[in-house]
Amino acid sequence: MKAFNDLADFSNEEISELIALASRLDKHPEPEALKGKVLSLLFLSPSLRTLASFQAAMVRLGGGSFVISPDMSIHGLETRPGIVMDGSAAEHIREAMPVIASYGDAIGIRAFAERKNINADMAETEFAALTDLVDTPYINMESAMNHPCQSLADWKTMDDHGIPANGGKFVLSWAYHPLALPLAVPAATLHMAAKRGMDVTVLRPEGFELPEELMQKARSAAASSGGSVTETDQRGEAMQDAQIIYAKSWSSTRHYGDRLGDQKLREQHLDWCVNESWFGNADKECRFMHCLPVRRGVVVADEILDGPRSIVIPEARNRMLAQMAVLHQMLGRSS
Ligand code: CP
Repeated sequence: MKAFNDLADFSNEEISELIALASRLDKHPEPEALKGKVLSLLFLSPSLRTLASFQAAMVRLGGGSFVISPDMSIHGLETRPGIVMDGSAAEHIREAMPVIASYGDAIGIRAFAERKNINADMAETEFAALTDLVDTPYINMESAMNHPCQSLADWKTMDDHGIPANGGKFVLSWAYHPLALPLAVPAATLHMAAKRGMDVTVLRPEGFELPEELMQKARSAAASSGGSVTETDQRGEAMQDAQIIYAKSWSSTRHYGDRLGDQKLREQHLDWCVNESWFGNADKECRFMHCLPVRRGVVVADEILDGPRSIVIPEARNRMLAQMAVLHQMLGRSS
């Protein structure tokens, strides 16, 4: 495997193989599988789970890793192309990237969306500029519009909890958050559930529609796998018979890059905080998922996070297992 960048690059059979490998490595550890291998981890954006789970994954497989982020004691890192570096930054990403990559056998890269221009973010301009600088295999640890490691873990989490693929009812719901967040997780989640063959409803207030290109990618995945994709702003309609509600906040696509416009719109939807009243006509076993971190009492009520519906902790643990499978395929002896 030369890159793990988008679940769309893999067939459903290949995804099932990765998930089976993740489960096997959990039950039957292989502490020497990646002996002597090194994973470089570049975090241009913050993290808890991705940072910890990749390091844990490499240790469990017998390899090692190192982390570089601008918050560390490194020379100031400049990322803008064509800049005259007469400010505080002493190192440019054009040198830093290949140097970091040269110390490892593969590199994981996290770079959130700039959230200034939706077309540039949709085109993954920044992430592509970074991957162009390395010739080792790479893993997308969250880019402007994708988070494939999260999606692989989410797919496994639904398998583990007996949520049917074909015919399973999946709701991706916008939730209130005080800040305008990136579209990466909703984009990846929508596509993942559709590719899994589920009947997916995007529940969002007006102004928070996902870009048509993302909807179209999901519809096309659904068409191949027997699933479906719809969208609505009607909570009761969306939640009818739902087996999963996956909550996530994201930026208004109408006011992309316009912080005040976005804020004015989102503040009209403070009631988009998932609580038990949302589940009236859902499947009685309906589960709650979220990629984390999540704001309690803002995105979701404590009663949900602390109750039997929530599977956010096994979902987060599956990040490590899913990534072990990816690393095993990318760096293992047969790769
Ligand atoms: N879900 C996720 O990627 O978490 P972190 O941002 O903490 O890595």
